[in-house]
Amino acid sequence: MQLICPICQNQLNQADRSYVCPNRHSFDIARQGYVNLLTVQQKHSLAPGDTREQVLARRAFLEAGFYAPIAETLIKTAEKYGVAGEILDIGCGEGWYSAQLADALHLPLTGLDISKEAVRAAAAKYKQHLWLCATAAHIPVPEGSASLLTSLFALTLPEEFHRVLGENGLYFQVLAAQDHLLGLKSIIYDELHLKEKDSVPELPGFERLESIPIRFDFTVEGEQIRNLFSMTPHVFRIGKEGARRLNETAVLSDTASCVLNVFRRV
Ligand SMILES: C[S@@+](CC[C@H](N)C(=O)[O-])C[C@H]1O[C@@H](n2cnc3c(N)ncnc32)[C@H](O)[C@@H]1O
Ligand SMILES: [Zn+2]
Repeated sequence: MQLICPICQNQLNQADRSYVCPNRHSFDIARQGYVNLLTVQQKHSLAPGDTREQVLARRAFLEAGFYAPIAETLIKTAEKYGVAGEILDIGCGEGWYSAQLADALHLPLTGLDISKEAVRAAAAKYKQHLWLCATAAHIPVPEGSASLLTSLFALTLPEEFHRVLGENGLYFQVLAAQDHLLGLKSIIYDELHLKEKDSVPELPGFERLESIPIRFDFTVEGEQIRNLFSMTPHVFRIGKEGARRLNETAVLSDTASCVLNVFRRV
């Protein structure tokens, strides 16, 4: 995928181990193969996004196959819509979902995440694809670059997504549903408050074609319980008692419940 300079928005060209724009802004290709296009101004903390621990926990959990039904649904749906062209995954994490999707469809993939640790892990493992450390708020690619945009358990920025998608491009959005991981939640919280959650949003500039529920049961044990927990936003909210109960849990049977919203750019 063609890249643009995050500082002046001119085209970037690869020269040896870096990407350079006509104004001589230069961005190194890291040893692992990813490109860091996050400018200091775009960083709101020293190390934004998921930490190395979160990235490793996510990889261990996903690679064990617990969430395979989500990847399978993504692949089936992309095949159903006859997706062709370039895939762009926003908030790609360590790359497990989008690498599988791209490889199943034999399509080129660019993954983007604000976490350097996440793209480092993605690039080290899935060398055939392009991985960028960048912000979803300013995606460093020209308008109309992608045929399929994905954001899985990550953020949605309709205006920027609209810009980078080509005409009739598709956007696959996976959101957790209200009843996602109730088993885990009932361990870590004293009381369960089910917040009203809009898992089927309307997006300006997009037509929603369908919403596919993905719901399945799974059982995790030992360290994988901790890995699952680290993947969730609950990691920022857990209290002392909740942490104690979680530590004492040896086996967890739970239900994953999410929605794949399929949007078309209009
Ligand atoms: C819950 S994780 C999901 C990761 C991956 N899609 C998955 O499902 O395995 C959300 C990801 O969004 C990334 N993220 C957060 N803010 C971001 C931003 N402004 N731009 C790009 N990525 C961002 C985080 O670093 C993290 O990897
Ligand atoms: Zn530049």
